[in-house]
Amino acid sequence: MKDENKKAAKKLQSHLDYKGMAFFFKIRDLIKPPMRKIQRSKIKEGDHVLDYGCGPGSYSFAAAEVVGKEGRIYAADIHPLAIKKVKKKAEKKKIQNITTLQTDCNTKLPDNFIDLVICFDVMHAIADKDKLIKEFHRVLKPDGYLTFDDHHYNDEEIMNIISNGNLFKLEVKKDKIYNFRINGINLSE
Ligand SMILES: C[S@@+](CC[C@H](N)C(=O)[O-])C[C@H]1O[C@@H](n2cnc3c(N)ncnc32)[C@H](O)[C@@H]1O
Repeated sequence: MKDENKKAAKKLQSHLDYKGMAFFFKIRDLIKPPMRKIQRSKIKEGDHVLDYGCGPGSYSFAAAEVVGKEGRIYAADIHPLAIKKVKKKAEKKKIQNITTLQTDCNTKLPDNFIDLVICFDVMHAIADKDKLIKEFHRVLKPDGYLTFDDHHYNDEEIMNIISNGNLFKLEVKKDKIYNFRINGINLSE
């Protein structure tokens, strides 16, 4: 990652930038409905899902539909406006299976708790990527999945970022969505 990107990664977006991004996502979601991407992940009914860097929640709300009332979405973001937006939309639509988490890499979720981590268009904004990948590995169940995309990186960069530490291995890539399966390594060993 270039130095200027590293600098950007450390900074919380201004509220104005955040609102601009959220507006852009509304248009994006009309052209590319979020459910399409969710359906390319390994999501299933009843899952506990962590949507890391959820932004305004496009993928959290699509995932909430799939997991149903037995499942739960943990919509996590560093930005207070993201959290506010997701909470407000969930209340308005009476969606009860979404919990918001304001966090910077440390989700405070229990170990082996999550079936699927969604990480869409976020990794470029993360300064300490290894720390976040370890956090995903910690919260995921032994048969869990990480579904990933980030258009800021090419194939090789994505494989390096996610699987270099040997915590995840690629199971399938389809239409630019990578589904990584957790590697059963116990980090405390
Ligand atoms: C480009 S947006 C993508 C939002 C959403 N995943 C989507 O694709 O619609 C990136 C999001 O990551 C969040 N983010 C950036 N750094 C973060 C961090 N360290 N921890 C959690 N979220 C972060 C930003 O606040 C922003 O909402």
